[in-house]
Amino acid sequence: MSRIVYVNGQYVPEDQAMVSIFDRGFLMADGVYEVTTVLGGKLIDFHGHAARLTRSLGELEMAPPLNAENLLQIHRELVSRNGLDEGLIYLQVTRGAPGDRDFSFPDPAKTPSSLVMFTQSLPYLIDNPAAKRGLKVISIDDIRWGRRDIKTVQLLYPSMGKMMAKKAGCDDAWLVEDGLVTEGTSNNAHIVKDGVIITRHLSSDILHGITRAAVLRFARSAQMKVEERAFTLEEAKAADEAFITSASAFVLPVVEIDGAPVGTGTPGPVAAKLREIYLDESLKTAI
Ligand code: PDD
Repeated sequence: MSRIVYVNGQYVPEDQAMVSIFDRGFLMADGVYEVTTVLGGKLIDFHGHAARLTRSLGELEMAPPLNAENLLQIHRELVSRNGLDEGLIYLQVTRGAPGDRDFSFPDPAKTPSSLVMFTQSLPYLIDNPAAKRGLKVISIDDIRWGRRDIKTVQLLYPSMGKMMAKKAGCDDAWLVEDGLVTEGTSNNAHIVKDGVIITRHLSSDILHGITRAAVLRFARSAQMKVEERAFTLEEAKAADEAFITSASAFVLPVVEIDGAPVGTGTPGPVAAKLREIYLDESLKTAI
């Protein structure tokens, strides 16, 4: 059965969905996106994703296509039309299609932003074998632009990073700038040393992960110690544990960095506990 996707006000079968070749997302990567997880047919942290979308749009002076209430309704409609139980909803807003190629932004009164959304069914988000196995990562230079806090669709370097990891027989890459870990290619990076969770502080150097925020909130409520500061690659390699967070990964342990084991080289108890708390709490508040 073909997926039903949403394109600028219409629900259509995926093979009939169309956007213009002049769309600025296509020509200039002039667009932002969000990925919201669906578990048991319900949305995890929808309002966090909607708030970050508003911020990304604001930072790029892009007109919001719809308000959060309307977006929520489309998310729910897509879940229902596609019978989605476990998976993701991808949402992308671009600065529209002005009808030609031009570096200058088009007048938003004449060129409305474009909104595309689709579902991805992923039945192994909760029962992810990587939670028991742990991830192997390599480190690579972070050569992305300086506004990583805006969730833009410029994902060429993160894609290249995933390919570099794959070629090295690993799962993912951690990005390093001036000796300090910024984040993973598509997730936030964290380490644990002497019981303290250490995670890079928020700035324009990293994406302000919605999962990161929730996990840190749950960790603090569980009386775990959290330090928000930059950490070096060397500290990560010498940590007791390392883990990543993202909407689709939740919390996943990292057991190897650049071929060297982290801690015991097996998934650690802090990451396992955070994954459990995160899933419990998120399922309770899913909408
Ligand atoms: N990626 N950092 C980067 C660079 C990311 O691309 C993501 C998300 C995160 C984690 O953010 P959140 O917890 O809000 O998902 C951090 C999504 C899942 C993706 O591109 O598919």
